[in-house]
Amino acid sequence: MQNIQHKRLGLPLLGLGVGLRNQHFSYLMRHEAQVDWFEIISENFMDNFGYARHVLERIAAIRPIVMHGVSMSIGSTDPLDWHYLKRLKALAEFVQPVWISDHLCWTGVAHVNTHDLLPMPLTEESLRHVIGRVCEVQDFLQRPLILENPSTYLEFKESTITEWDFLSELVRETGCGLLLDVNNVYVSSYNHGYDPEHYIRNLPSSSIVQIHLAGPTDCGGYMVDTHDQPVPTRVWHLYKLAQELTGGVATLLEWDANIPDFPDLVAELRKAEDALKGIFPDAAIHKSGEADVVSNPVDFQLSLKR
Ligand SMILES: [Fe+2]
Repeated sequence: MQNIQHKRLGLPLLGLGVGLRNQHFSYLMRHEAQVDWFEIISENFMDNFGYARHVLERIAAIRPIVMHGVSMSIGSTDPLDWHYLKRLKALAEFVQPVWISDHLCWTGVAHVNTHDLLPMPLTEESLRHVIGRVCEVQDFLQRPLILENPSTYLEFKESTITEWDFLSELVRETGCGLLLDVNNVYVSSYNHGYDPEHYIRNLPSSSIVQIHLAGPTDCGGYMVDTHDQPVPTRVWHLYKLAQELTGGVATLLEWDANIPDFPDLVAELRKAEDALKGIFPDAAIHKSGEADVVSNPVDFQLSLKR
């Protein structure tokens, strides 16, 4: 596991972690955790005071926890959802997370939640809009917000700023941190035809506090962020590049469908140690038909519009 050697944004390095998923609750209540830290999906625990909360309390007593949300909708033109933010803060007071993250995206408008992480128009106007909202959220939470680059399937004609420049300016203006999902960089770069290494090299590496790893699916002409496969070789290369640029930050393996048994998940995570030594797992990108991965009408529309 990685050593804790330095801090960035005042946040500690955590080593290698996985998502805390209910499929592993029983295992984790009976076995050693085998990872350095856990990430939770904040929404899964906000209004849950049953067994899941009990497991979380047990795990939080022995391992650092990071809260990762999917509903902040920081890019929306709707007003900030203070009901959501208050519940997020209340969960943070219970969990005492090392940090709180969400995504550079919007999830709906006019109070309609699409339950999708929708791409931003990358313009000066939207940048100023998000800067103001990030500052408001950070003031409320009394801690830096960590924002993740999304996987995207369309771009806006109105966009005038690259995503890496948008994120860089957002960091500079707000002091927020970055969660660099190297799989999302791979997915978006494939879908939009840019160089993923160029993307990673042009982020402010000193503001990256965490990396996400995951496995996507090649749907023939476009790539989908399915989180249901081993990390492919190409993404491991991006991971090594990112860690060389950051000097080494917390690493989290995301796996959200067809979830392996916990020991197998840990085995996949520990391949990160080999990748940093230049020993890359030989894993092809999973190929599938569109019908296997289009889960709802919103996904389908996004696929058609790309
Ligand atoms: Fe991610």
